[in-house]
Amino acid sequence: MALVTYIEHDGREYKVDVPSGETVMQGALNNMVEGIAAECGGGLACATCHCYVDDAWMDRVGEAEGVEKEMLEAASAEVKPSSRLSCQLTMTDELDGLVVRLPESQY
Ligand code: FES
Repeated sequence: MALVTYIEHDGREYKVDVPSGETVMQGALNNMVEGIAAECGGGLACATCHCYVDDAWMDRVGEAEGVEKEMLEAASAEVKPSSRLSCQLTMTDELDGLVVRLPESQY
């Protein structure tokens, strides 16, 4: 298990234990975090699971690359260096305490 804090655009916070091996997106869907839509269910085909990784975690998480980076171009909210698609962020024990912020809208 690893704790993930999801911060909605309006400041609401959800603290969720996400099992190692599951994605940040799955943790959001399983706990009704509103700011993640994840229309394609994690297939890297929609960009509605966009999140911003907290600066303190960027060294461990890293920037989006490859297909994920290309897919982020379809995100409706501003894309920043900390932007990631949460379906591509797989939790590990090392990411215990991860903080992600969610855009105002995924559309
Ligand atoms: Fe569709 Fe992540 S859920 S790209």
